[in-house]
Amino acid sequence: MSLKKIKKAKLDWKNLPFNYIKTDFNVRCYYKDGKWSKPKLTSDETIQMHMADPCLHYGQEAFEGLKVFETADGRIVTFRPGENAKRLQNTCEHILIPKLPEEIFLEALHKLVHANLKYVPPFGTGASMYIRPLVIGKGAQVGLGPAREYLFVMFACPVGPYYKGGFKPVKALVLEDFDRAAPLGIGAFKVGGNYAAGLMGHAFSSSKGYPIELYLDPKEKKYIDEFGTSNFIGISGNKYLTPDSMSILPSITNNSLSIIAKDMGMKVERRRIKISEIKKFSEIGAVGTAAVVTPIYKVHYKGKDITFGDENKAGPVITNLYNRLTRIQTGEDEDKFGWLDVISK
Ligand SMILES: Cc1ncc(COP(=O)(O)O)c(C=O)c1O
Repeated sequence: MSLKKIKKAKLDWKNLPFNYIKTDFNVRCYYKDGKWSKPKLTSDETIQMHMADPCLHYGQEAFEGLKVFETADGRIVTFRPGENAKRLQNTCEHILIPKLPEEIFLEALHKLVHANLKYVPPFGTGASMYIRPLVIGKGAQVGLGPAREYLFVMFACPVGPYYKGGFKPVKALVLEDFDRAAPLGIGAFKVGGNYAAGLMGHAFSSSKGYPIELYLDPKEKKYIDEFGTSNFIGISGNKYLTPDSMSILPSITNNSLSIIAKDMGMKVERRRIKISEIKKFSEIGAVGTAAVVTPIYKVHYKGKDITFGDENKAGPVITNLYNRLTRIQTGEDEDKFGWLDVISK
């Protein structure tokens, strides 16, 4: 369908919150008798639950997050959705949910966006459409064990920038008394339980005036793991460094930025990074789908502040990385890595 024929919803596109906004349709698939059903649209915003559905008790739940953009030339695109489909499969595998085939994920995404085209924020507003896919274990049972039935839901909502202030440096607190994941646990997978585990740490750091929190490795508390909902990157000379850890989520944004960094002639290093090394970085950032990169100007650790550049302005390398990635997403720069999935022209 051509975008020219779509009349956009009447929304204040430039002032959208990063929050749930109702759209017209969501997509559902069911897993029963050993197979996944084809994706179907519904306008029902609710899910019927049984009080003994295992997702409610044992947290058998997996989810994802990705974005849809309108490009400068009026196309509607998503960014590397196959990577989200694969990561969801990976998560499912680790909590014994039958893997949702990648084709079904992509079909659901296209159906969902086509049905909600009028809610894709116009190019140039800074807003985008956030897509939230999730899978839950259903079918009444009480004993611990994987569910027999599953529901996959994918919904969409137009969102404004994650941080109201936009691309501006923030300060972060290193959490010494909280962990979000166990060393051989499920920190590398996108399950709801990891985020429940992170609520207290986030509330603690917010109460101290820090919008984001940095977790150390849960075993030795010596190495940098990741921020509450984003990966850590550090810039040192011509190097892009990011932690190697079994308890962090493999971020698609981090992977994309590291490919861009290499393309810019930088050396990319993924290794264990000691928290004591942090002062050597000229710039650091928190990277993820929601904000792409959040520059960090100050890290508070063991009663001391470590500062990185200008409090009011992101450093040059992180700014360049941010601009390059966001300009690919909005079609302002060539999609030289083939990352865009075109949904509508
Ligand atoms: C714990 C955690 N780390 C990292 C990320 C960033 O991942 P991505 O770039 O794929 O959004 C997210 C967000 O999904 C997250 O929740």
